[in-house]
Amino acid sequence: MRSHASRPHFARASAGRLSPAAAHAPADIRKLFPALADSTEIYLDSAATTQKPLPVIETIHRYHSSRTANAGRGTYPWATSLTTRLSRIRDRTAAFIGAEHPDEVVFTGGATAALNAVTLSWGLAVLEDGDEILYSPADHASNVHPWHHLRGLLARFGRRIELIPSRVTAGGEADTADILAKVTPRTRLITASHLHHVYGGLTTLAPLRGKLDPAILLCVDCSQSGGHVPVDVTELGADFAIFAAHKMFGAPGTGILYCHRRVHDKLVPFLPGGNSGVLVSEAGLVPAAMPALLEGGTHNIPGILAFGSALEVLESFDIGAIAAHNRELTVRLIDTLRPIDGLEFLPGPAFTPSPVGYGIVSFTLDGITATDLGFVLSELGFLVRTGLHCTAADGAQADDSVRVSTHIYNTADEIDRFTKCVMMIAEEVR
Ligand SMILES: Cc1ncc(COP(=O)(O)O)c(C=O)c1O
Repeated sequence: MRSHASRPHFARASAGRLSPAAAHAPADIRKLFPALADSTEIYLDSAATTQKPLPVIETIHRYHSSRTANAGRGTYPWATSLTTRLSRIRDRTAAFIGAEHPDEVVFTGGATAALNAVTLSWGLAVLEDGDEILYSPADHASNVHPWHHLRGLLARFGRRIELIPSRVTAGGEADTADILAKVTPRTRLITASHLHHVYGGLTTLAPLRGKLDPAILLCVDCSQSGGHVPVDVTELGADFAIFAAHKMFGAPGTGILYCHRRVHDKLVPFLPGGNSGVLVSEAGLVPAAMPALLEGGTHNIPGILAFGSALEVLESFDIGAIAAHNRELTVRLIDTLRPIDGLEFLPGPAFTPSPVGYGIVSFTLDGITATDLGFVLSELGFLVRTGLHCTAADGAQADDSVRVSTHIYNTADEIDRFTKCVMMIAEEVR
């Protein structure tokens, strides 16, 4: 895996900008995230969205309050400097996710938009009658619904594609043996979550490498792994990879779609408009080169600038250190919740032979619904997610649960207070 350690670290020392060493002290980490510094609640819902560090907030404010302009349009300095900054952030993003070329990085309106770009820009253009897509019904709806929508759209043009469901292991990972068993000569693409949004299992995809026909494309939803564990799209062998900026300390409305160069000539614009191509009367729309081909319209400029600041903060912590911190908290959470009578874990690291964890654990408790438990916990100051967590539940067994998710700003003490609270509720509802 590409080392993140050699990359430049965020070390400026103005308001909200902490050196890496200082940023590791829990009190200083809290100061970096103003919404936490101002609250008494314990935020355990980073899988829904992460807290925003000061540099991200400042960047968004600065864009709107100083030299506001469009990027990639004007020739005056306010505009050209933004064009340059966006281009640098594209380079930085490519380095952060392990892309070999910046033109493989597309800025989108979020992870959902990125996944829909895959189905509409690639799937609609290339899939033929009888082609097959392997997917997991237990994945986030954003990695399930677009494929069903695509199947419906293609059916209108007389092309019938098959969506082949794959399973999840007890450890909450994509079942790569099941995937391999279901591959046929008609398989065109396999889509999987890198880190599952409910189960918290990390799919390595290593068992697939070298065993698949290289013509089969791999789409990896890294919405939960980006900013949590080191992600290297080249190492993953991804043709498409998806990231959500707001789960990486950035702002909502910004996402990243990685498209390997080998698929570029198969893509058509999914948001035709300014930038994405030129209209030639006889030929129709002639697509622009990547990444403009998939970036029709004005960019979410503050969102992308903020993502640049978010990457600086993530790098200042070191992504390996974030992963180690989340692992420690997850293992502690599982170990302390496990003895509670009536508590049942959903699939995930609770069922793996060695202690692993990536900051996501989901469970149910006998005697109380997940919704009620979430409500009681929030009354006591613990902010967790409850329900199906946007799982598509397309024919899959899906039950409401409580999901706890952590990040660098959570502490072992918060985990201990949380588990004590769950223990107390368990005794009361028994
Ligand atoms: C695994 C996964 N994929 C996709 C998404 C969709 O992200 P967004 O709603 O930000 O577009 C999420 C959000 O929770 C997610 O967890």
